[in-house]
This record gives sequence, structure tokens and C-alpha cells, in this order.
Amino acid sequence: MITIHMIIALLIVLLLIYINFRIRMPIDYKSAAIQNKTLVYLSILCLVTLAVQIVLGTQVRESIDMISASLDYNFRNSWVNQLGLDFYIHRSFSLLILALHIWLLVVVLRNNHQSSRVKAMGKYVVLLIVLEIFTGIIMAYFGMPPFMQPIHLLLSTVIFGALYYMSLLIKNEDKTYAPS
Ligand code: HEM
Repeated sequence: MITIHMIIALLIVLLLIYINFRIRMPIDYKSAAIQNKTLVYLSILCLVTLAVQIVLGTQVRESIDMISASLDYNFRNSWVNQLGLDFYIHRSFSLLILALHIWLLVVVLRNNHQSSRVKAMGKYVVLLIVLEIFTGIIMAYFGMPPFMQPIHLLLSTVIFGALYYMSLLIKNEDKTYAPS
């Protein structure tokens, strides 16, 4: 239930961001060729892997809800120890996410057709991912402080929204660049 709820919430966020983007950039360059395929496809890969990581996270959350209820919401320190494979995949996958986003940032910074706005967004996204990993570590190894749970959840949504907006800009700036 949490996973389905999260997926629908993310779809609403994407739709709102897309509407906002289209209002600001009314021209759709659908037919124009993509100049830098690596950059555009890499941004899509980042979005897909991040979506997978968010779904994995909500699976972990579902397990936490069951474990905590079975212990009457006591012994917070022991909840994470009782998690299964989904937690270890979620934890390790975060390193792949970080590596992919650093790669995206490097490609964006080296690309002359991308604006300073996209470059700044790339830096913020990497910074937010580092923060997200940090909040995950605090939850997993420092007794699951209750205030960290909403921060971890909120950060994931902000990262996803920012990355989606950034990938829309990347595609737009790539296509509007007219090689002579
Ligand atoms: C890119 C990195 C990460 C993303 C995008 C991410 C995202 C998420 C999301 C969306 C949830 C579900 C939250 C909820 O429904 O309340 C979650 C849960 C969780 N994540 Fe992560 N996570 C990341 C990294 C990590 C890392 C590195 C760890 C631990 C070392 C971790 C530990 C946890 C734990 C323990 C939960 C369950 C939290 C709860 O019960 O509220 N996460 N994660």
C-alpha cells in the first residue's frame, strides 16, 4: 500500500513539474535530433534507477512498519537488525545511485550547450543524494530516530522532482542548440 501510494504521489509531482516546465518553455522540440545522446540517456537512467531506489525504500518502510508493530513500537534500536535482503539491496543500491549522479554531473559540467542553471542543479542533486545517504545511515545505525524518517522520505521526493526538472531542461537545451 505504501509503495503504490508513493508511486502515485511521485506521478503527481512529475505531472505538476511537467506542466510548470511547459508553461515556461511552450515550444516542444519533439522532432529535433538529440545532439548529445550520452547526456540525455544518462539523465533518463538516473531517473529510472532513482525510481527503483524509492520503491525499494518503501518496501523497507513496509517491513519496518510490521517489525515495529510486532514489538509494540518499543526497542527502536533493534528494528533495522531484523530487516531482510530488501534493506541490504536498498543500502548498496545507494552507492550506484551516487556514482551515476556524479557521472551525470561530470558530463553536464563538460558540456558547453548546457546552461549554468542545469550545472547548478546537477550540483544540488548530488549534494541532496549525499544528504539522503547520510540520513539513511543515521536511521540504520543510530537507533532509527523518529525525526529522520520524514526527512529521508522528503529528501527522496525533492531529489526525484529536481532530477526530473533537470532532465527536462537537459533535453530542451540539447535540442535547442543548433550546430552550424
Ligand atoms: C539515494 C539514496 C536513497 C534514497 C533515494 C532512499 C529512499 C528511501 C525511501 C523513499 C524510503 C521510504 C520512506 C518512507 O516510506 O517513509 C526509504 C526508507 C528507508 N531507507 Fe532509504 N534511501 C536511500 C539511501 C538509504 C541508505 C544509504 C540507507 C541506510 C544505510 C537507507 C535506509 C533506509 C531505511 C532504514 C528506511 C526505512 C525508513 C522508515 O521506516 O521510515 N536508505 N529510503
